[in-house]
Amino acid sequence: MEFNNVINERRAATFFDPKKDLDITLLEEIINEATLAPSCFNTQPWGVVVIKSQEAREELFEKACQQPKVKEAPVTLAIIGKRTGYERENSIWDEKIKNGYLDEEKLKGILSFCNSSLFATLDQKTAYAARNSSLLAMSIMYVAQNRGVATHPMIGFDEGAVKKLYDIEEEDIVTMLISMGYPDESRELYPREKRFTFKEISKIY
Ligand SMILES: Cc1cc2nc3c(=O)[nH]c(=O)nc-3n(C[C@H](O)[C@H](O)[C@H](O)COP(=O)(O)O)c2cc1C
Repeated sequence: MEFNNVINERRAATFFDPKKDLDITLLEEIINEATLAPSCFNTQPWGVVVIKSQEAREELFEKACQQPKVKEAPVTLAIIGKRTGYERENSIWDEKIKNGYLDEEKLKGILSFCNSSLFATLDQKTAYAARNSSLLAMSIMYVAQNRGVATHPMIGFDEGAVKKLYDIEEEDIVTMLISMGYPDESRELYPREKRFTFKEISKIY
Protein backbone atom coordinates (compact mmCIF):
# COMPACT_ATOMS: atom_id res chain seq x y z
CA MET A 1 0.00 0.00 0.00
CA GLU A 2 1.18 3.56 -0.70
CA PHE A 3 2.15 5.14 2.62
CA ASN A 4 -0.21 8.10 2.17
CA ASN A 5 -3.08 5.64 1.65
CA VAL A 6 -2.16 3.90 4.89
CA ILE A 7 -2.36 7.26 6.68
CA ASN A 8 -5.56 8.36 4.94
CA GLU A 9 -7.44 5.10 5.29
CA ARG A 10 -6.64 4.25 8.91
CA ARG A 11 -9.65 4.91 11.10
CA ALA A 12 -10.61 3.95 14.64
CA ALA A 13 -12.60 0.99 13.31
CA THR A 14 -15.34 0.81 15.99
CA PHE A 15 -17.38 -2.00 14.34
CA PHE A 16 -15.55 -5.30 13.96
CA ASP A 17 -16.90 -8.42 12.31
CA PRO A 18 -16.93 -11.00 15.13
CA LYS A 19 -17.01 -13.83 12.59
CA LYS A 20 -13.62 -12.92 11.09
CA ASP A 21 -10.67 -14.19 13.09
CA LEU A 22 -7.22 -12.58 13.02
CA ASP A 23 -4.51 -15.05 12.09
CA ILE A 24 -1.96 -15.26 14.89
CA THR A 25 0.96 -15.50 12.43
CA LEU A 26 -0.19 -12.31 10.74
CA LEU A 27 -0.47 -10.63 14.16
CA GLU A 28 3.08 -11.77 14.95
CA GLU A 29 4.35 -10.33 11.66
CA ILE A 30 2.57 -7.02 12.31
CA ILE A 31 4.05 -6.69 15.78
CA ASN A 32 7.55 -7.71 14.66
CA GLU A 33 7.49 -5.09 11.91
CA ALA A 34 6.12 -2.44 14.29
CA THR A 35 9.01 -3.00 16.71
CA LEU A 36 11.16 -1.07 14.24
CA ALA A 37 9.59 1.97 15.91
CA PRO A 38 12.19 4.30 17.44
CA SER A 39 12.73 4.38 21.18
CA CYS A 40 14.91 6.26 23.64
CA PHE A 41 18.44 4.72 23.49
CA ASN A 42 16.68 1.90 21.60
CA THR A 43 15.66 0.57 25.03
CA GLN A 44 12.23 -0.52 23.69
CA PRO A 45 10.49 -0.13 27.06
CA TRP A 46 7.32 -1.84 25.95
CA GLY A 47 5.39 -5.06 26.05
CA VAL A 48 2.25 -6.46 24.45
CA VAL A 49 -0.50 -8.59 26.02
CA VAL A 50 -2.65 -10.36 23.42
CA ILE A 51 -6.25 -10.87 24.54
CA LYS A 52 -7.71 -13.41 22.16
CA SER A 53 -9.93 -16.09 23.71
CA GLN A 54 -13.67 -15.45 23.95
CA GLU A 55 -13.48 -15.74 27.73
CA ALA A 56 -10.57 -13.29 28.02
CA ARG A 57 -12.28 -10.78 25.73
CA GLU A 58 -15.48 -10.91 27.79
CA GLU A 59 -13.47 -10.40 30.96
CA LEU A 60 -11.66 -7.40 29.43
CA PHE A 61 -14.94 -5.94 28.11
CA GLU A 62 -16.10 -5.53 31.73
CA LYS A 63 -12.90 -3.60 32.61
CA ALA A 64 -12.95 -1.49 29.42
CA CYS A 65 -16.14 0.53 29.99
CA GLN A 66 -18.09 -2.25 28.23
CA GLN A 67 -16.94 -1.00 24.85
CA PRO A 68 -18.50 -3.48 22.38
CA LYS A 69 -15.42 -3.53 20.11
CA VAL A 70 -13.49 -5.33 22.85
CA LYS A 71 -15.95 -8.22 22.59
CA GLU A 72 -16.49 -8.03 18.82
CA ALA A 73 -12.88 -7.75 17.62
CA PRO A 74 -11.07 -11.11 17.47
CA VAL A 75 -8.04 -9.65 19.27
CA THR A 76 -7.35 -6.76 21.60
CA LEU A 77 -3.80 -5.82 22.56
CA ALA A 78 -2.82 -4.18 25.82
CA ILE A 79 0.23 -2.03 25.08
CA ILE A 80 2.50 -1.89 28.10
CA GLY A 81 5.03 0.85 28.88
CA LYS A 82 7.95 0.10 31.24
CA ARG A 83 8.94 2.94 33.54
CA THR A 84 12.26 1.26 34.41
CA GLY A 85 13.04 -0.03 30.92
CA TYR A 86 16.27 1.98 30.68
CA GLU A 87 17.91 0.26 33.66
CA ARG A 88 21.08 -1.86 33.37
CA GLU A 89 19.09 -5.15 33.38
CA ASN A 90 17.81 -4.41 29.86
CA SER A 91 19.77 -6.82 27.62
CA ILE A 92 19.88 -4.17 24.86
CA TRP A 93 22.79 -2.57 26.78
CA ASP A 94 24.77 -5.85 26.52
CA GLU A 95 23.97 -5.92 22.81
CA LYS A 96 25.36 -2.39 22.43
CA ILE A 97 28.53 -3.32 24.33
CA LYS A 98 28.95 -6.52 22.31
CA ASN A 99 28.61 -4.56 19.06
CA GLY A 100 31.13 -1.95 20.16
CA TYR A 101 28.69 0.99 20.42
CA LEU A 102 29.45 1.39 24.13
CA ASP A 103 31.66 0.16 26.94
CA GLU A 104 30.73 -0.33 30.62
CA GLU A 105 32.36 2.99 31.56
CA LYS A 106 30.33 4.99 29.03
CA LEU A 107 27.19 3.09 30.01
CA LYS A 108 27.72 4.03 33.67
CA GLY A 109 27.74 7.69 32.59
CA ILE A 110 24.53 7.30 30.57
CA LEU A 111 22.72 5.52 33.40
CA SER A 112 23.86 8.12 35.89
CA PHE A 113 22.48 10.87 33.57
CA CYS A 114 19.21 8.89 33.29
CA ASN A 115 18.85 8.50 37.05
CA SER A 116 19.88 12.03 38.00
CA SER A 117 18.29 13.98 35.18
CA LEU A 118 16.33 12.36 32.31
CA PHE A 119 14.25 9.94 34.39
CA ALA A 120 14.78 11.23 37.93
CA THR A 121 11.13 11.63 38.88
CA LEU A 122 8.10 9.36 38.64
CA ASP A 123 6.54 11.80 36.13
CA GLN A 124 9.64 11.56 33.91
CA LYS A 125 9.67 7.76 34.16
CA THR A 126 5.96 7.64 33.29
CA ALA A 127 6.50 9.97 30.33
CA TYR A 128 9.39 7.75 29.13
CA ALA A 129 7.15 4.67 29.30
CA ALA A 130 4.21 6.41 27.60
CA ARG A 131 6.20 8.18 24.88
CA ASN A 132 8.02 5.10 23.72
CA SER A 133 5.17 2.60 23.95
CA SER A 134 2.85 5.02 22.15
CA LEU A 135 5.23 4.99 19.20
CA LEU A 136 5.00 1.19 19.18
CA ALA A 137 1.20 1.47 19.35
CA MET A 138 1.04 3.89 16.41
CA SER A 139 3.40 1.69 14.41
CA ILE A 140 1.21 -1.35 15.09
CA MET A 141 -1.83 0.59 13.81
CA TYR A 142 -0.09 1.67 10.60
CA VAL A 143 1.53 -1.70 9.92
CA ALA A 144 -1.83 -3.40 10.52
CA GLN A 145 -3.56 -0.98 8.13
CA ASN A 146 -0.92 -1.77 5.53
CA ARG A 147 -1.69 -5.47 5.98
CA GLY A 148 -5.47 -4.96 5.62
CA VAL A 149 -6.19 -5.21 9.36
CA ALA A 150 -8.36 -2.59 11.08
CA THR A 151 -7.52 -1.23 14.54
CA HIS A 152 -9.08 0.81 17.32
CA PRO A 153 -7.05 2.47 20.12
CA MET A 154 -8.65 2.95 23.54
CA ILE A 155 -7.86 4.50 26.90
CA GLY A 156 -11.35 3.88 28.23
CA PHE A 157 -10.44 1.13 30.72
CA ASP A 158 -9.72 0.61 34.39
CA GLU A 159 -5.92 0.47 34.43
CA GLY A 160 -5.66 -1.08 37.89
CA ALA A 161 -8.11 -3.84 36.97
CA VAL A 162 -6.39 -4.53 33.64
CA LYS A 163 -2.99 -4.74 35.37
CA LYS A 164 -4.42 -7.28 37.78
CA LEU A 165 -5.95 -9.38 35.00
CA TYR A 166 -2.60 -9.89 33.23
CA ASP A 167 -0.14 -9.78 36.17
CA ILE A 168 1.40 -6.55 34.92
CA GLU A 169 4.21 -5.24 37.13
CA GLU A 170 3.32 -2.40 39.49
CA GLU A 171 5.97 -0.12 37.88
CA ASP A 172 4.59 -0.65 34.36
CA ILE A 173 1.75 1.29 32.74
CA VAL A 174 -1.02 0.14 30.41
CA THR A 175 -0.56 2.75 27.70
CA MET A 176 -3.62 1.84 25.66
CA LEU A 177 -5.69 -1.03 24.32
CA ILE A 178 -5.84 -1.68 20.59
CA SER A 179 -8.64 -3.82 19.19
CA MET A 180 -7.75 -5.46 15.88
CA GLY A 181 -9.62 -7.38 13.21
CA TYR A 182 -11.78 -6.78 10.16
CA PRO A 183 -14.51 -4.14 9.82
CA ASP A 184 -18.18 -5.12 9.98
CA GLU A 185 -19.06 -4.06 6.41
CA SER A 186 -22.77 -3.70 7.31
CA ARG A 187 -22.09 -0.73 9.59
CA GLU A 188 -20.76 2.67 8.63
CA LEU A 189 -18.36 4.86 10.57
CA TYR A 190 -19.07 8.54 11.08
CA PRO A 191 -17.13 10.63 8.57
CA ARG A 192 -13.61 11.44 9.68
CA GLU A 193 -13.57 14.44 12.04
CA LYS A 194 -11.75 17.70 11.31
CA ARG A 195 -8.04 17.86 12.01
CA PHE A 196 -6.36 21.06 13.14
CA THR A 197 -4.03 22.29 10.45
CA PHE A 198 -0.37 23.26 10.54
CA LYS A 199 -1.38 26.93 10.83
CA GLU A 200 -3.64 26.16 13.79
CA ILE A 201 -1.19 24.04 15.77
CA SER A 202 2.23 25.46 14.95
CA LYS A 203 4.46 28.27 16.11
CA ILE A 204 7.51 29.21 14.12
CA TYR A 205 10.52 30.75 15.82
C1 LIG B 1 -4.84 7.14 22.96
C2 LIG B 1 -6.22 7.03 22.36
C3 LIG B 1 -7.25 6.62 23.17
C4 LIG B 1 -8.54 6.46 22.65
N1 LIG B 1 -9.53 5.95 23.45
C5 LIG B 1 -10.74 5.66 22.92
C6 LIG B 1 -11.72 4.98 23.69
O1 LIG B 1 -11.50 4.60 24.84
N2 LIG B 1 -12.92 4.72 23.10
C7 LIG B 1 -13.19 5.09 21.81
O2 LIG B 1 -14.30 4.82 21.35
N3 LIG B 1 -12.27 5.71 21.06
C8 LIG B 1 -11.04 5.97 21.56
N4 LIG B 1 -10.07 6.54 20.78
C9 LIG B 1 -10.33 6.76 19.34
C10 LIG B 1 -10.43 8.23 18.98
O3 LIG B 1 -11.65 8.75 19.42
C11 LIG B 1 -10.26 8.39 17.46
O4 LIG B 1 -8.99 7.92 17.09
C12 LIG B 1 -10.42 9.85 17.03
O5 LIG B 1 -11.73 10.28 17.24
C13 LIG B 1 -10.07 10.07 15.58
O6 LIG B 1 -10.78 9.21 14.74
P1 LIG B 1 -10.01 8.35 13.63
O7 LIG B 1 -8.98 7.53 14.38
O8 LIG B 1 -11.08 7.46 13.00
O9 LIG B 1 -9.40 9.28 12.66
C14 LIG B 1 -8.79 6.74 21.28
C15 LIG B 1 -7.72 7.18 20.48
C16 LIG B 1 -6.45 7.30 21.00
C17 LIG B 1 -5.31 7.71 20.11
